Amino acid sequence: MRKDTRNMVCYANPATPEDLDWIFGREIDSYTPQYAVARQTLEQWYGVNPDGFSILTMNGCRIGHLTILPLRPNILESFDQGTIVERDIRADCIYTPTEKHLTRNLYIESIIAGSSHAHSTLPIKALTCLARDFVPLISAICDPANLENVYALAASGSGERFMKGLGFDQLKSSQQRAGQHALYVARFSTLRDNIGALYNRRLKTTGKSVPSPFWRGLG
Ligand SMILES: CC(C)(COP(=O)(O)OP(=O)(O)OC[C@H]1O[C@@H](n2cnc3c(N)ncnc32)[C@H](O)[C@@H]1OP(=O)(O)O)[C@@H](O)C(=O)NCCC(=O)NCCS
Repeated sequence: MRKDTRNMVCYANPATPEDLDWIFGREIDSYTPQYAVARQTLEQWYGVNPDGFSILTMNGCRIGHLTILPLRPNILESFDQGTIVERDIRADCIYTPTEKHLTRNLYIESIIAGSSHAHSTLPIKALTCLARDFVPLISAICDPANLENVYALAASGSGERFMKGLGFDQLKSSQQRAGQHALYVARFSTLRDNIGALYNRRLKTTGKSVPSPFWRGLG
């Protein structure tokens, strides 16, 4: 039986080490075993910096996740040249929590919202929650005022549509990247403004009189 989720609220919470198996399972389901990151790699990244790992919950149940990695300069060239593959992002390519102030570039490793098996209102609820919490989530991992670019690989058709809708531009297509996923980039300021606008549009559509996210105008 499908649950009525109309009045349920979605939250983004820090992921715990116990969530890593669940994240790994969802990535395998969504991206196929060939493209999903290895469980061991997830653990290494989490070990260096857990602050970009979030779990989306609704009514106490996990419905999705978001993983963001703060990139060190030693890996940026492969992003800018479009040659990056996820397995190249080693633990020493990620800033630690104590180096938060140094972060200028982020990589969205994965976003999964709702069930891939059935149409439901979960993704839109989760995306609205992420929009509401976008700058606080980002602030856990860096100082947004210092941020320049946000990178992401298009691991699925829905992911690619979603990124284009947020204002990401293609840096290199999958053909140019020899069968690897297409690489996208967005200026942080563009992303912040577009997400704020989508959030406001969503509130108008649902008729809720909630003010703009408090973070609008920051950064
Ligand atoms: C990626 C994923 C989260 C995108 O969700 P989606 O529902 O397919 O996203 P869509 O682009 O269709 O957007 C749905 C709606 O939310 C809106 N939206 C997008 N981001 C939003 C935000 N931050 N706040 C409010 N609304 C938002 C869109 O404008 C769209 O609204 P519309 O239907 O009125 O036009 C989801 O498809 C998913 O979990 N896929 C499996 C994993 C995956 O492929 N991840 C991406 C890897 S690159």
